[in-house]
Parts: sequence; structure tokens; C-alpha cells
Amino acid sequence: MRIPESTLSEIRSRIDIAEVIAEHVTLQRRGGRYWGLCPFHQEKSASFTVTPDKGVYYCFGCHKGGTVFDFVMEIEKVPWRDAVEILAKKAGIEIPQEDEEQGGIKRGTFFELYRRVAGSFHWLLTEGAAAESARRYLAGRGLQKEAIEAFQLGYAPFDRDWLFQFLAQKSYSQEFLSKTGLFIESTGGSSSALFANRIMFPISNARGEIIAFGGRALGDSQPKYLNSPETAFFRKRENLFGIDKAAPAIRGEGFFVLVEGYMDVLALHQAGIANCIAPLGTALTEQQVRLLKRYAGKAVVLFDGDDAGQNATSRAIEMLEKEDLIVQVVELPGGQDPADFIQKEEVGALKDFLARPGESFPYLMRKAVAAHDRSSTEGKEGIRDQLFPFIAAPASQMRRDRYLTLLADELDADQGALRQDFSAWSSRRRVPGPRAGQGTSWGSPAERGAPGEGRAYETRTLAHGESGAVSSDLFLMLAVAANRDLFPLVRNGGVTLADIDDEKARALFVALEESFRAEDTGFEALCARIDDAAVRDLAIRKVSSGEFDMNQERLVADGVRKIRQRALVKRIDAVAVEMRKAERESRDSPRVRELLVEKMHLDSELEKLKTRAAGV
Ligand code: GTP
Ligand code: MN
Repeated sequence: MRIPESTLSEIRSRIDIAEVIAEHVTLQRRGGRYWGLCPFHQEKSASFTVTPDKGVYYCFGCHKGGTVFDFVMEIEKVPWRDAVEILAKKAGIEIPQEDEEQGGIKRGTFFELYRRVAGSFHWLLTEGAAAESARRYLAGRGLQKEAIEAFQLGYAPFDRDWLFQFLAQKSYSQEFLSKTGLFIESTGGSSSALFANRIMFPISNARGEIIAFGGRALGDSQPKYLNSPETAFFRKRENLFGIDKAAPAIRGEGFFVLVEGYMDVLALHQAGIANCIAPLGTALTEQQVRLLKRYAGKAVVLFDGDDAGQNATSRAIEMLEKEDLIVQVVELPGGQDPADFIQKEEVGALKDFLARPGESFPYLMRKAVAAHDRSSTEGKEGIRDQLFPFIAAPASQMRRDRYLTLLADELDADQGALRQDFSAWSSRRRVPGPRAGQGTSWGSPAERGAPGEGRAYETRTLAHGESGAVSSDLFLMLAVAANRDLFPLVRNGGVTLADIDDEKARALFVALEESFRAEDTGFEALCARIDDAAVRDLAIRKVSSGEFDMNQERLVADGVRKIRQRALVKRIDAVAVEMRKAERESRDSPRVRELLVEKMHLDSELEKLKTRAAGV
């Protein structure tokens, strides 16, 4: 049974990690943290740290680290659940007893509520007077009635009090409603709706029971998408958007089409491509891949054509190949997403692309080659190093062998030499401890269960060996993760998810945003929201290093400005391209003038940013 998040956060707040660890390690305070001899490996000088205000430990020698729960698991050699119980006992907190309910709510009541709410939202969208602009928006995106019906899209009204009153009338208790993820509890004890003035995408489990919502803003207001928080019956890393509708088609076709967005799933279904699903706003997880593997052994990845989409494609390939799925890739031209592509071009064009997908490894090779200078030895080594993790991903020895052959050919390298490099690399990155033989890679996402879930005992080594290259966006997000009070600088600075290309930075941004909204302030609680284990480990390592202890305000402000600047330049380029196109048709159309005005506006925004950067 799942331990409620509220219990976990209560344990966190009552337990002092330094006190727990001091029972096993002699700690000495230096600066903002404690140092001692690592209990997990032999050493003579102290490289083991505890950072009490962040609630984490980390050893710079053996790279083990984590939260207080991880420490107890590791030192007592117990599974996660036992670790929680040990700490709960220390803190004098009782863990709710197991019964047919989960997290204090009954399955049936929960599902019935979501069915009702989805039905009401759907009615409001299709019939309600207030949803006129929502209907127009969907029509503008090319969505037709049938798709809106099939997915039971809805509209959440502007008034944040409506939903609670509506449900209270149906005699649901406030206590129950507060656990459904539909409301934000305010301090006064009243419940206001999480979703307001949004187009609602019901999220179902594989059995077709609605368990959550994704809500899309109508215009450009942020965040663009808001997803239900996790509840007793909704874990975003275990579900996929559209799975209930796609399952029969996936079985029938023998493969699935993985897209990034909810809109894409709808557009593809509407176009008759029914074997299509999307993750729930985060990078693809191991659990999601396992779920998909039950339906088919082949995947076609069809992500957005922009940089973020292409980065996510590589990660998705790695995830899918780890479970030995056959993976193919479709690249869309011009940075478009599948939904826009269908709308602008035509369905046939997309079907043509889907009929001729590329193979995964050649795709990865092309990207690696593009990022290096292949004519130099150094460049070749760079390509090699970028690709080794992908070669290591599949469990199938035969597949790895084929990839090595392909890579040697591509690099004009000696087969034997490349293979030697690969085995040296493989043994270096192998995790010490009981799981060594399994060759878990660094940086593999979702190595651990979700926080709040029972998981088997495992020792863990943090992702110390990972390529080491941290993009400037990721660096910025790490600085903010270590200094949570600076997040408003990012948010108010106008940075949106769409402006960030680096996938790890995106994962951190989403976690920070969720944490900000939930008003949890601790670093540990933030960690629990980071879905990507490699990103979480990296954050723990950085926080333990003290790298971000000093005042980071300047650095964050600069980083925010850089992102804004980059986004503006991108937009200006796009406008220029469109303007040339429009001018070819007519030199002085309203469209040309419109674009000109936009360009002037963007130029002056950019100018302003630059002036500020110059410190004026
Ligand atoms: P359109 O932009 O309307 O085409 O929707 P989309 O579904 O294609 O979204 P997009 O490609 O921008 O993003 C892909 C997915 O990432 C979405 O379906 C959401 O699940 C998630 N996502 C996008 N923006 C945000 C955001 O601001 N916050 C969070 N938490 N998730 C987001
Ligand atoms: Mn999109």
C-alpha cells in the first residue's frame, strides 16, 4: 500500500538527517555542512557530507547519496517501506493502516467522482455559454466534434468556487474532496478549484477509468498545461495519455506511435492513426515503457521537430531500447509538432512520413556526427562517447554488436579497437555493490521507484560519471533548485517551458514549478518531484558540493535574461522567415504589416534586454 505524501512530508519535517546519520558516523561541522568518514566505503580522509538544511547526504569518494530515507535503506539494508517505518517511529508518527481504500479514499468513490466531473466539464465545453472561446480555440486548432467527444474534452469554468459548490451539493465531504487533486486548499479552509478557464483533457488508466486531468490554457497564459497532482490513484510516471483508446489499435498494428503532446494524440486519432499515445508531460519512464511493452514490441517516436523534441527523442530511444523494443524515428521538418503538421500540410503527408520511419541508431549517429568534427580524432572520440550509452542500452547482445559495427563503419575506425574501447567504458561505468553485474547505466532515468512507493532494496550510486557537460540552462535550474527562493525570478522573468531545450533542465523546471505551486519549500520535497533519477542525483550532488551556497541572485538573473534573449532571437528569426514568404506573395499585405509590427516590437524587447545586460 502506498504511504500518503502527507505522512512522508511530516516525517521529513520532524527528522533531522544529521542526527540520524550521527548515530553511524562521527560528523564534524565545517561551513554549512557536516563531514565524516563514509560508512559505505573504506577511506582515511573524510569525503562524506551531510547538508542538513537541504536534507541530503553525499559522498565525494564513492558517490553514494540521497535523502534520509535512502540513508536508512542503505545502512540498515532494508527496503524502502521499512526505512519509512523506522523513521516514522523515530518521529512518533503513525503510518495509516492498510485497508481497501488507498490514501484514505475509496476506489469506487474516486472513479465515480472523476467520471462526474469529466462529464460536467464536457457538458460545459459543448453546451455552456461561457465556453465559446474554448470552442473557438479548438476549432482553430482543427479539432472536430468526433475527437472532442471521443476524448471527452471539457472546459473548467473561470469561477474557482463553482466545482466545490457543485460537488458539495452532491454530498461529497470536504475531507474527501481535498484528497482528489481537484482543489487547492487555502489557509481559510475553503477549497478553490485547481483548474480555471482551461480546456480539460481527461487522463484515463489502461482500463479507461478517468484518474486525472491535464488542463490547457486558452491563450498564452502560463503554465500552458497544468496536470493534476499525484493522488492515491494517479501516478503520472505509470500512465500514458490515450492508452485506453489506443490499446486495441496498438495490438492490431503491432506498434505504437509515441508523441509528446496531448494535442498531438488527438490530432493523430482524428487523422485515423489510433495507435498513438503520449507521456504525461515528463520524459518517458521505465514504467510507461513496461506498460507499452504489454501491447507491442515496436515503437515509432514522433516528437516535435524543435530542439527540445529532438533531445527528448534520444532519451526516449534509450528508454525504449533498454526494454528491448524495436525503435524507429520520424523527424518532422521545420520544428513543427505533429498536430500543427497535420493542420498545415495534410494527413497524407504525415502518413507518408510514418510509412518511412528511420532506424533509431542511424538517427542517433547522425545527431552525434552533426555535433562533432568527424575529420579529427578528437571529434571521432566525441561521437563515440556520445553514442556508447545508447549502444549499452539494449539488453540484446546481438543488437549491441550491430550498433558497434555500424559505428565503426561510420567513423572509419577499426572494429577491434572500438570494441575494446566499449568494453573498457562498460566496466568503468559499472555500479559497485550488489547490482554490479546488471550494468545499470549512469543517468538512466527512473531507476528508482517513485517516492511514496514501496520498492525493493537496492544500493545506489549517484550519476557522478555522467558526461560532465551541464548546459547553461541546466546550470541555471540547478542553482535555482539549491536556492528555491529565487524561483520567482525565473517565473516572473517570463521563462516558460517552451524556451528551454535541454531535457534535464526541462525536468527540473517542471519540478520547480510544481513545487512552487504546491508551496512546498524544502529541497527534499523538490527531489521527490523530479521524475528523472539522473537529474535528481545531479541536483543532490551539486547541492552537496556547496557550489551554489553563495548568493546566486546575479547568476540566476543573468541566466534568465539569456534564455529570454535566446527565445526572442528565435522568434525574430521565425518572423523574418515568415515575412519574406509573405512579401513574395504581396509586398504590402496586411499580413506583412502585422509581421513588421511584431518584428519591431520584438526588436525593441531584445534591445531592452541587452541594455539591462550591460548593467545600465
Ligand atoms: P500545443 O502547444 O497546444 O500544441 O499542445 P501540446 O500538447 O502539443 O504541448 P507541447 O508540445 O508544448 O508540450 C508537450 C507536453 O508537455 C504537453 O502535452 C504537456 O503534457 C507538457 N507541458 C507543456 N507545457 C507545460 C507546462 O507549462 N507545464 C507542465 N507541467 N507541462 C507542460
Ligand atoms: Mn505541441
